[in-house]
Amino acid sequence: QVEMISLSDAHKKFFEVGACLSSESIKRHGAIIKKHFNCAVAENAMKWEPIEPQTGIFTFGEADEIVKFTKDNQMTLRAHAPIWHMAVPDELFVDGDKPASREILIERIDSHMKAFCEHFKGQISSWDVVNEAINDFPGEDLRQSKWLELIGPDYLDISYHIARKYAPDIQLFYNDYNEFVPFKRERMLRLVKGMLDRGVPLDGMGLQAHVNIVECNLDEYERTVEAFASLGLRIHITEMDVNPYSLRDRVFPPSSPITEEMHHKQAELYRGIFDICRRYSDTVDAVLTWGVADDMTWLDDLFCPGREHQALLFDKDHKIKKWTEQIIEDAIRY
Ligand code: G3I
Repeated sequence: QVEMISLSDAHKKFFEVGACLSSESIKRHGAIIKKHFNCAVAENAMKWEPIEPQTGIFTFGEADEIVKFTKDNQMTLRAHAPIWHMAVPDELFVDGDKPASREILIERIDSHMKAFCEHFKGQISSWDVVNEAINDFPGEDLRQSKWLELIGPDYLDISYHIARKYAPDIQLFYNDYNEFVPFKRERMLRLVKGMLDRGVPLDGMGLQAHVNIVECNLDEYERTVEAFASLGLRIHITEMDVNPYSLRDRVFPPSSPITEEMHHKQAELYRGIFDICRRYSDTVDAVLTWGVADDMTWLDDLFCPGREHQALLFDKDHKIKKWTEQIIEDAIRY
C-alpha cells in the first residue's frame, strides 16, 4: 500500500489543518496528530473554568501540556474560549451574597485575560475571545447569559478591547455554530458588522461547522463563507464534525444505524466544505475538526451518549477514513 501524503501537507498551499486536543487525545491520537495536523486548539483546557476555577487561582496544567506538544511538533495553536455561557465557575458571577456588579465582572475579565496572556505569551496565534453569544431562538439577537445580564450587551466589545490590550499579536476571533442556518447567519453578520463599525478589535470569524447531513447543505455553507469573507475577516473552520443525524435528533439508542447512504452524504459534506475552503483560501486560514478519531468525541459523550456518530476523519481504530483519503486526493488534484 502506498503511503499517502498527509492532510496538512496536501493543504499546505491552502490553509492549516488541525483538531482540538486534550491530554487524553495527545496520549491516544498522538501519532495521527503529528502526521496529519499542523494546527490545534485546546478542547477544554483554555476555557475560563479550567484556567481560573476560583477567582485569582490559576491552573495551567493541561493547557501547558498542549502548548508543549504543539510547540514540539511545530503546530500553530488557537486558544478557546473564555467568554462563554459554559465552562465558567458560578462564583465568577457573585460578590458575596449578591450578583457581581458590572464593574467587578469587567475587572475579573481584565485580570483573567492579563494572567492568561502573560502566561501564554508568544505561544498562541489566534483566540476565540467570545464564544456562542447568539440566541438560537426567536427574540433578541444575543443569548441570555450572566455576561449579558450583569454587564449588558457591550460585554462583547469590552472583552475584545481587553483582549487586545494584553494580546496585541494574537488574532482575535468570534466563534459560533449553526452558521449555515440563514437566520443564525444573519444574526452573526449583524453582530460582527456592528463590532467592526464600532472599531472593536475583531480579526476573524470562527465557523464551528458542527454540520449534519439533514440540516446543512453546501450552498448555504458557501453563502456563509462568502458573507464573512466579504467583511474582510479572516476565517477559521474551528470545530468541524459531520453528524449523520440531525442536531434535533437526540434520541438515545437504539436509533437508526448509520447506513451506507448516510455515510455517503457525510463524505459529500466533508469533501464539499473542504472544497469551499480551498476556493476561499485567500481568506480561510485553518480548518480544524472537533476531535481526532471516532473513539473520542463530544457527540458520543455529551450530545447523545451511547450512540455512535462516526463524524470525524479517523475511525475508532485510528484508521484513516475513505472520505479523508478523498479529501487529500481532492486537494492534490485542485
Ligand atoms: O473538568 C472536569 C473534570 O474535572 C471531571 O473529572 C470530569 C468528569 O465528568 O468532567 C470534566 O469536565 C468535563 C469536560 O468536558 C472535560 O471532559 C465537563 O463536565 C464537560 O461539560 C466538558 O464538555 C466539553 C463542553 O464543550 C463544555 O465545556 C466538551 O468536552 C467539549 O467538546 C465541548 O466543546 C464545545 C466547544 O467548546 C464550543 N462549541 C461546542 C463544542 C461541543 O459542545
